[in-house]
Amino acid sequence: MKREQWASRFGFIMAAAGSAVGLGNIWKFPYLAGTQGGGAFLAVYLIIMATIGVALIMAEIGLGRAAKRNPVGAFSILGGKKWMVTGIIGVTTSFMILAFYSVVGGWTVAYIVKSIFGTLHVNEPDLLPGQFNDLVTSVGEPIFYHGVFMAMTAGIVLAGVADGIERSVKVLMPLLFALLLILVVRSVTLDGAWEGITFFLMPDWSQVNGPMISAALGQAFFSLSLGMGAMITYGSYLDKGANIPNASYWVVFLAAMVAVLGGLLVLPAVFAFGMDPAAGPGLTFITLPAVFGEMFGGYIFQIIFFVMLLIAALTSSISLLAIPVAYFAEEFGIRRSVSTTLVGLVIFAMGVPCSLAMGVWGDIKFFDMNIFDVTAYAVDNYTLPIGGILTSLFAGWVILERLGSELTNEGKLRFSAMPAFTWLMRIVAPAAVLWVMVSNLLG
Ligand code: TRP
Repeated sequence: MKREQWASRFGFIMAAAGSAVGLGNIWKFPYLAGTQGGGAFLAVYLIIMATIGVALIMAEIGLGRAAKRNPVGAFSILGGKKWMVTGIIGVTTSFMILAFYSVVGGWTVAYIVKSIFGTLHVNEPDLLPGQFNDLVTSVGEPIFYHGVFMAMTAGIVLAGVADGIERSVKVLMPLLFALLLILVVRSVTLDGAWEGITFFLMPDWSQVNGPMISAALGQAFFSLSLGMGAMITYGSYLDKGANIPNASYWVVFLAAMVAVLGGLLVLPAVFAFGMDPAAGPGLTFITLPAVFGEMFGGYIFQIIFFVMLLIAALTSSISLLAIPVAYFAEEFGIRRSVSTTLVGLVIFAMGVPCSLAMGVWGDIKFFDMNIFDVTAYAVDNYTLPIGGILTSLFAGWVILERLGSELTNEGKLRFSAMPAFTWLMRIVAPAAVLWVMVSNLLG
């Protein structure tokens, strides 16, 4: 059977950037920057993206293309059975992330519908927190929208790598950039936006501290979809002639740029209307609608905003789903279409308790957290960091030579950053991630 491939390198870059650019960049990044001191957080985040981030994404794409397999198959082909566990952690993580990611994706679908019908109380901002709360704590509505979001995700993946994923990202990613630019221009030209712009762009170095660096590293990791084999999977569909280091620079650049634009969209608007930049997760669903309510043309900008958020979420969720789909198809010989349908249904089912945890099942607690939070916590603090440490140790110590020849296309390309890559993989990345993991656990 012939393995699928990306039809073009542009398509691959859009797909990988689509995986990276997601709710993490537009929903999480601005509120992290808002709570972690603005510009200094941005600076630390960018430095990590440009070093550890670039190196690890290259390593994952290279491993994928070298093995031409899903993460579990890739680690066992390249490193032997004992490394398989790294891939298994990745596949498990993809189930966990997609379960709660799809619930949040569903909220964005709900907010598009509400924006179009004008049923959000944008003119009575006091009611917005309650309205958001009503949505996420009720039973049927969020589960319905979670199902809609999962169905869209599975629909794209069902159509195949080139005909489904690539074809959709080639349209969706440029559209996302265009919508984002429109919104940023609107936000930074508001009266009073300047204060938000300087808060976000001017680093106040006194804000740099351990917890902040560890939040920035965690965010860089999450926002590049690292540590779980997403890029291994996408890299496995890449043709042998493609220049992996170059493609990696592009993906990191695009992901970092969207995070910057996300901050420039959210924070100036929040400052201009005198709202609290440290509002946390509610910033996107509560604060921004209030901002739109006050803004000229807010009705349209609000629809544009939630459509853009949905695109960002969808281009990430398809890559999350692509991981287990490839795994079950390749390791157990299940047809891709059957694998997609089954995995989609299982993840939909896993998302139901995550959604209910916001409301009626909120009292079911593990380690003092509800089901939604404990899933996100396990991923952020255990499975992603462990996956990242193992991947970089594997790249740096076990198959460095093989990987080096993959990154240079068997010596045909020059890759002058190889020494830096080597040290980042061998020492810097594992040590930094380990430090973050331990310091989070000691809290
Ligand atoms: N990068 C995604 C975001 O920023 C989240 C994410 C983490 C992800 N790991 C992933 C997406 C793996 C796809 C695949 O929202």
